[in-house]
Amino acid sequence: MSGQEWWKRAVIYQIYPRSFQDADGDGIGDLAGIAQRLDYLSWLGVDAIWISPFYTSPMKDFGYDIQDYRDVDPIFGTLADFDALAARARALGLKLILDFVPNHTSDRHPWFLESRQSPASAKRDWYIWRDPAADGGPPTNWLAEFGGSAWEYDEASGQYYYHAFLKEQPDLNWRNPEVRAAMYDAMRFWLERGVDGFRVDVMWHLIKDDQFRDNPPNPARPPNAGPANALIPLYTADRPEVHDIVREMRAVVDAYPERVLIGEIWLPTDRLVTYYGHDLRGAHLPFNFQLIGAAWDAGVIKEIVGDYEKALPRGGWPNWVMGNHDKGRIASRLGPRQARLAMLLLLTLRGTPTLYYGDEIAMRDVPIPPDRVCDPYEKNVPGLGLGRDPQRTPMQWEDAPQAGFTRASRSWLPIAADASTVNVAAQRAAPASMLTLVHRLIALRKAEAALTIGDYGALDAPERVVMFLRRVPGRRLLIALNLGESAQSLSLPGDSRQATTLLSTDPERPLGDLAPAFTLGGGEGIVVLLADRETAPPSPAA
Ligand code: NOJ
Ligand code: MG
Repeated sequence: MSGQEWWKRAVIYQIYPRSFQDADGDGIGDLAGIAQRLDYLSWLGVDAIWISPFYTSPMKDFGYDIQDYRDVDPIFGTLADFDALAARARALGLKLILDFVPNHTSDRHPWFLESRQSPASAKRDWYIWRDPAADGGPPTNWLAEFGGSAWEYDEASGQYYYHAFLKEQPDLNWRNPEVRAAMYDAMRFWLERGVDGFRVDVMWHLIKDDQFRDNPPNPARPPNAGPANALIPLYTADRPEVHDIVREMRAVVDAYPERVLIGEIWLPTDRLVTYYGHDLRGAHLPFNFQLIGAAWDAGVIKEIVGDYEKALPRGGWPNWVMGNHDKGRIASRLGPRQARLAMLLLLTLRGTPTLYYGDEIAMRDVPIPPDRVCDPYEKNVPGLGLGRDPQRTPMQWEDAPQAGFTRASRSWLPIAADASTVNVAAQRAAPASMLTLVHRLIALRKAEAALTIGDYGALDAPERVVMFLRRVPGRRLLIALNLGESAQSLSLPGDSRQATTLLSTDPERPLGDLAPAFTLGGGEGIVVLLADRETAPPSPAA
């Protein structure tokens, strides 16, 4: 089976459902809207879509606070809308990955309501309740990601409950076997409905220290990091017992053919790769975010890719993520030219790429006026640039009111000021656009096995240039990216007699024959087919 699993060759596309397409005219995206736009995704060439949560929710964290794991929130539609979307996706050959949020529920989930009723409640132990510390304060110093203590006091019972995120997102107690069983049933509900897998929210958070020890202070707190970074989350995340849970989740998924288990895990490479699990019985794809926060520097990128390739367990399949709904957009981080290189890198590295909606048209972070802020992170911890609304604004489809996203006169978040030019319709018609580049890159990935299942080999290159080979027997591709702003002279690897440029991020570069000594423009990236002794085509005279 090795190499054959669909998710090894796939490009995954993340949809933030509030912002993709609004079908019912309330200014918020919905499932029927996504269904209308599947033809576009099919044209783009992606293989799978991952949809951020659309379950019943009070929307305190815009769907990451779930009240019913087995239903669709009315804002997004109905189960019938889901089935219609799933059927349309299937008809187009698109795989469907759901977001599964097991770490916490909404505080309005019936389980929590029951748990909260009294310390004697049958569901008390489904959440994490503790007596106050001796001084009456919170049981530990643990901090919530979205600000403040992670413990919320409950007047009625005189106990605290733990929440890693908002107080409206109480953490489930995954040490309780009933919780595990109930959550695995929720997974099966969707697997039975035909979904192709899950992206598991904050997988590394699921188990907390059973001795409730205080987290140590963080001497290396990065500037502008969230308030929870004041402590090292030694006892609240990445606990050894979490791997038992991941293994169980994997077994749930494995009971159905060809499903994929993806874990959201923000950890350094050496810790991240442990989530493949013993004997690869953990997550198929522990999300690799190392490039999201990295400096855009050739040396740094080489090191990240090299370390990751080295750290992967035998048989573990790599993956790369460059943007998502929690981080600023690529085009804003890197600028327009280097953003094209980022797409080239994402789509030519070894491993399954995940592409965030809108990055294929180089959408940028949209400034949000104070009276339009939605994200609770920004509301709780204002002014530090932690808010996530800028990267969650509506998809820009065309030069039309609300960029074609909704027929309402107002969208839930503002539309980008440049949407009349930065949009799908305009870029589909423009040979030099980001969308045309991404479309070609995905097509090339499909056509060239070297780019999906091929080996990766780093090559020496001048400062500011990243260069590597992707190779299957009989076919070698060279990828070169100039992260600098000035042109660079390069030469083909020694044994290459002849080379053909297949693609460049610079629309001006002619494709075809490439001389052994060539120049790569500032901010240019290319994909080159190398002919060498092994692969040189027979000459016409022979
Ligand atoms: C990670 C999700 O990506 C983020 O958007 C959310 O706020 C937290 N988990 C809490 O569920
Ligand atoms: Mg709607």
